Amino acid sequence: MCGIVGYIGHKKAVPVLINGLLSLEYRGYDSAGVAVLSPDNNEYKLDIVKDKGRVKVLQDNKELENLHGNVGIAHTRWATHGIPSKENAHPHLDNSKSFAVVHNGIIENYIELRQKLIENGYTLYSDTDTEVIPNLIHMNYNGDILQAVSKTLKELKGSYAIEVISPLFPTKIIVAKKDSPLVVGIKDDEKIIASDIPAALSHTNKFYFLDEEEIGVIEKDSAKFFDINLNEVKKDIKEIDWNAESSEKNGFEDFMLKEIYEQPNAIRETIGSRLSLDKKVNLELDGVDFKKFNKIFIVACGTAMHAGIVSKYSFEKFCRIPTEVDMASEFRYRNPLIDEHTLCIFISQSGETADTIAALRLAKDSGSTTISIVNVIGSSITRISDYTLYTHAGPEIAVASTKAYVCQVTLLNILALYISEQLGIENKEINSFKESILELPEKVKDTLTTIDAIKEIADKVYTQKDLYFIGRGTDYAVSMEGSLKLKEISYIHSEAYAAGELKHGPIALIENGITVIAVATNPNISEKTLSNLEEAITRGANSVLITNQDIKNDKINYIINIPKIDSILSPIISIVPLQIFAYFIAKNKKLDVDKPRNLAKSVTVE
Ligand code: F6R
Repeated sequence: MCGIVGYIGHKKAVPVLINGLLSLEYRGYDSAGVAVLSPDNNEYKLDIVKDKGRVKVLQDNKELENLHGNVGIAHTRWATHGIPSKENAHPHLDNSKSFAVVHNGIIENYIELRQKLIENGYTLYSDTDTEVIPNLIHMNYNGDILQAVSKTLKELKGSYAIEVISPLFPTKIIVAKKDSPLVVGIKDDEKIIASDIPAALSHTNKFYFLDEEEIGVIEKDSAKFFDINLNEVKKDIKEIDWNAESSEKNGFEDFMLKEIYEQPNAIRETIGSRLSLDKKVNLELDGVDFKKFNKIFIVACGTAMHAGIVSKYSFEKFCRIPTEVDMASEFRYRNPLIDEHTLCIFISQSGETADTIAALRLAKDSGSTTISIVNVIGSSITRISDYTLYTHAGPEIAVASTKAYVCQVTLLNILALYISEQLGIENKEINSFKESILELPEKVKDTLTTIDAIKEIADKVYTQKDLYFIGRGTDYAVSMEGSLKLKEISYIHSEAYAAGELKHGPIALIENGITVIAVATNPNISEKTLSNLEEAITRGANSVLITNQDIKNDKINYIINIPKIDSILSPIISIVPLQIFAYFIAKNKKLDVDKPRNLAKSVTVE
């Protein structure tokens, strides 16, 4: 999805902006552009260079060499309104060419605003919703840029993170945000603005996070913030414990592979000092009266939602509270039964997913208590939620989520234990479950050794068109995530089925040579999953079994053995071979695993 960078300081802006855009490439985009203010005979001129295509195309554009200024804004566009083209790329200018604007988000009432501008004599040259913004600023400008921006923002419906520069105020970048992230990195007499922290990490780890409908006036040695009515707002600087290295590949061919390998350490960080054998679980949730809840909703999207499905078992087992898992995009429109006796848990790597934010707002408005499991520090969800628990997975750059998922599941299980202890529920298994969580980093590390065996399978099946995953209980839940990983990065059609459902319809799809991957880690139901796999084998399926049980079966083509663990936690282990499988299939197909087509790392639009 679109990315924003801005720079004001003593350095030449262009290289900083381009490096920032390169570090945002993982978000997915189709065009890129920069606008720079350069000194010109005691005045300032505003230059824009933009085009369709990769940042590399922009970087190779000779016109960039003429942009000498120290103030600039930049953007990577992921088309929503209007095809990817030079005209539709950002930055956009107003008709007088005084105000350059980059924008993330969607202006929902742009048709109405375009009409208003046209009636006032303006011409719009692109198909974008964004182009209304610089023109409205121009229309509202009477010498005071803050007034003009505030008035313009009040006219916009939808979401925005914007940067504005102009020769009329050459030492400032004006920024603002609503429902789309924006941070201001602080470094002595330099400021680096970004939609995502990694774009600024090579300069600083100190940030201001803009809140909803806030406006910032950013100069090289100061940053002031205002609410939409222009009352000044005092903000604290937040220090982020991520470093620039963690957002680089460090010798790995792709971010995805690097992040798969980072999983043992990431889980270690998630556990941190929250869990030890001889103490109660330690989470910063003082003040929550867990006794009042009679229902838990876990709400998220995509992989984060799969983390919720996997963890439902733990909440019901240890907390004895009925737990329902919902897709945020459904939850927000289905009028769910929520009141003050409901605990709503939201999961999000980015903390910026539009549907999850809307669902969270709905839950808050309905009087429930909200706890969010988030990776990106200071992101929107953390600021809306009553309580936030961070996964501490470090930056996840590959679009396909891997380490965030295992950390989300780990943290959700720790939360379930915490609630159980707060409720005083006796469960003889709690101590051994805590031990199992503490063993996770080593067991995930051991599981990484299956890489060669998995690669061998991927090398054989990567040309197939359809692939099926089956499992029961948590093995079914992890099958959904394995299937999603495969779809996302290899573009192979795949489905996950509860193994017992196979013969109620989907088995009709099984024919000679189709690959069926079964996950069987629960000692009580593995035999049953195995029988379902055999039913597929009888109908000609090529079979793979991921298991931690002692299963010997000559009919199965490939058996991948993984470490034993409590079956509630087994998805954190069994997902690893499935991630590696998807990775090698995509590599065999020579696809860009880090930036799969049509996908974006953080989905900030509905
Ligand atoms: C899949 C993937 C997506 C995200 C989903 C939610 O690999 O990454 O399905 O999980 O878009 O994103 P967050 O967790 O940022 O809310």
